[in-house]
Amino acid sequence: MLKTFEPPRLDLLSARPGNPQGRRTAASKDPVRDVAGVPVSELTEKYGSPLFVYDEAEMKRNLRTWKQAFETLYQPVRFGWSYKTCYLRGVCKSFHGEGSMAEVVSEMEYEKARQLGVPGKEIILNGPHKRPAFLKRALSEGATLHIDHFDEVDDVLALADESEQILKVGIRVNMDAGIQPVWSRFGFHLESGEARQALTQLLRHPRIRLSGLHCHIGTYILEPVAYATVTRKLLELAYWAEDTFDQRIEHLDLGGGFPSPARLKGIYQSPDVYLPKPSEYAEAVVNALQENLRPGHRPLLLLESGRAMVDSAGTLLTSVLARKAMPDGRDLVVMDAGVNVLYTATWYEMQPAVTKRYDTGRHSTQLVGPLCMNIDVLHDDWMLPPLDRGDTLLIPNVGAYNVTQSMQFIVTRPAVVMIHTDGSQEVIRRAETLSDIEAGES
Ligand SMILES: Cc1ncc(COP(=O)(O)O)c(C=O)c1O
Repeated sequence: MLKTFEPPRLDLLSARPGNPQGRRTAASKDPVRDVAGVPVSELTEKYGSPLFVYDEAEMKRNLRTWKQAFETLYQPVRFGWSYKTCYLRGVCKSFHGEGSMAEVVSEMEYEKARQLGVPGKEIILNGPHKRPAFLKRALSEGATLHIDHFDEVDDVLALADESEQILKVGIRVNMDAGIQPVWSRFGFHLESGEARQALTQLLRHPRIRLSGLHCHIGTYILEPVAYATVTRKLLELAYWAEDTFDQRIEHLDLGGGFPSPARLKGIYQSPDVYLPKPSEYAEAVVNALQENLRPGHRPLLLLESGRAMVDSAGTLLTSVLARKAMPDGRDLVVMDAGVNVLYTATWYEMQPAVTKRYDTGRHSTQLVGPLCMNIDVLHDDWMLPPLDRGDTLLIPNVGAYNVTQSMQFIVTRPAVVMIHTDGSQEVIRRAETLSDIEAGES
């Protein structure tokens, strides 16, 4: 085969933090030509670029894998789909179809769940802000409520004063679970006694009952043992409440936080190596349950996993708008998607793959987005072949948090397509136009 002449060049090897060999990672040389069996070229021709593609089968696989890991060791267990991770109706519907509850953190998310037909008793309501009228509605509809702070305790006490019914409430607790950072701004602090104080204020009221306790320690948690600590500490608190107020919790909610296969910046190894298995999290939790539950007590275990359910199911297709040479020798490639739609590029090392074969060498490339902003960088230093205008890259593992945190800054937001389990394609959100952006303006 005739090879094209490639002029020799020197690439400066920059030893970035977190890589002991001083080597940059490079995208696999093998092109990735399809998403969930659908050719990339077909997707971009039909729906345009950039484009988010969700693989429904992968979403369901993730949920089933995690569910099975827990259910083989303990029952009852329910998973609540964390809406904020990606609350497109198509995505939520798919998880509800697999039996997930809705975990919401705002009135808007609650309304979304209700409009999708989720009954209040299938909704877990967290979050730092709930207006009294909203609290009243959620409680009357039977939502699982976790109170976040003392002002909310006051609001619930006021509702209980005027109510003729018993109000069932839970509280969110934060604690030292042996990992850093400690998320101490949500809920009541355990070690300082705040959580007991909140429970005391609530449970002295004759029309308030404790439904359960909640703790979400953070996200992308790589230490299964942290969940064991949370389980033990929450049960200690639960039994203190039981002994003091004669009320037994019905559920224990350990929040979300399980990691996804997206690669964190600053970690040497590949996620295949450093990610614990779902069974390791399940064993840590269930061992702690077995060691600490009182005889005859089997509370409902709630989990609110977001990232681990959907990150690996979401892919971004993005195409080359322009190429430049940087003064430091790197190539610069301007893509049609940037941090406006890939918010997680801040802490994930994006792993863009080529979607066709190139018979040329790879060079150090800075991949940037279309924003007229210096911070719009998808990858600072990625080894890529010389890309042509219009070539498409595929960025895997971007299904969590990017669609919901996308910005309408300077450019409109792209379409989102779902490849259903039966192989059919559905636009679950069309690409935006200027009139969408101006819809609320006068
Ligand atoms: C209360 C609560 N539950 C669940 C989640 C989902 O977390 P993750 O995506 O890490 O599983 C979050 C996300 O921040 C959260 O705040």
